[in-house]
Amino acid sequence: ASHGLVDQFGRRIDYVRLSVTDRCDLRCSYCMPEGFKGFEEPAHWLDFDEIERLIGAFARLGVRRVRLTGGEPLLRRNIAELAARIAALPGIEDLSLSTNATQLDRHAHALKAAGVTRLNVSLDSLQQARVERINGRDVLAKVMAGLAAAEGAGFAPIKLNMVALAGTNDDEIDEMVAFCMARGFVLRLIETMPMGDTGRNAEYLDLQPVKERLRAQFGLVETTLPGAGPARYLGTPDGRFNVGFITPISQHFCATCNRVRVAVDGTAYMCLGQDERFEFRPLLRSGCSDAELDAAILDAINLKPERHEFREAPAKILRFMSMTGG
Ligand code: GTP
Ligand code: 5AD
Ligand code: SF4
Repeated sequence: ASHGLVDQFGRRIDYVRLSVTDRCDLRCSYCMPEGFKGFEEPAHWLDFDEIERLIGAFARLGVRRVRLTGGEPLLRRNIAELAARIAALPGIEDLSLSTNATQLDRHAHALKAAGVTRLNVSLDSLQQARVERINGRDVLAKVMAGLAAAEGAGFAPIKLNMVALAGTNDDEIDEMVAFCMARGFVLRLIETMPMGDTGRNAEYLDLQPVKERLRAQFGLVETTLPGAGPARYLGTPDGRFNVGFITPISQHFCATCNRVRVAVDGTAYMCLGQDERFEFRPLLRSGCSDAELDAAILDAINLKPERHEFREAPAKILRFMSMTGG
């Protein structure tokens, strides 16, 4: 256990992305979730005790960071209580959360108190009509209120995730840079990955030219920031503004992959762009011992493939992004 979790390609797995619901109040074009279906929780969802036991086992074997995702994680009832339970697990050093921020105004303080250290917020446009078009709902004002509440609760720096879509919001990148500079947010530009049959792969934008343009325009230099993800960062030399590039298509980062995903039904997905998976729910509900659970986690890690096989189109992976939370 003290040697940690290492996969067949020598990669150390110390990061679990935990999806706590597959529901969402938005309908982002590149994600297309099943959608919000009320508050009752299906029997196939892991409950908090099951989640705590599973993540506790991962932590016992070497996982040090957990990110709560969805769907939209703030739609899971009592999410702050779950956050507190995960933050308290022995071995967990970093607990973060990715949210669309539509409900963040009423959750920000409780999440901070629960031990969430870092927040990533999705925001694809600063224009009301565009948010409605890209994200499916007129929520810009709510997101802005959520961001303000998160700042008020002491989250810093907040990272803003912008999925760059050719012909849809790529003309807004400079405005987003200015907005993040003014507010002290870290901007992250993301290449859209073809997942599910969203039919929107035509909007893929290669971010390498954008990166070179921003580097020249603002005199940016390479830098690193706290975080467990695949972003490559550039920043102003004074460190006051940073922008990250998440480029799964134009320059993938699979060689340094450090994570697995756990979906709300207890399925662990070994790669965002592959089908390898391991079902933990039957095991958890069979009254297995801790030793059996640990052995199953090692088996699961052995299934991790070398890299994704995303192409621009057509999508190979037919599950939606909302099942695994990106
Ligand atoms: P930090 O800890 O702040 O670095 O977070 P993160 O970038 O890991 O998390 P976030 O939820 O904000 O994800 C940002 C984007 O990175 C999303 O579009 C994810 O789908 C993408 N992403 C994260 N991990 C992977 C991965 O292993 N493979 C691929 N292809 N994309 C990933
Ligand atoms: N490609 C790239 N990023 C995506 N996200 C959701 N769907 C996709 C996709 N198809 C992003 C969201 C959110 C992050 C967790 O994942 O915008 O910010
Ligand atoms: Fe919801 Fe996030 Fe998917 Fe948008 S990207 S529909 S906010 S889960």
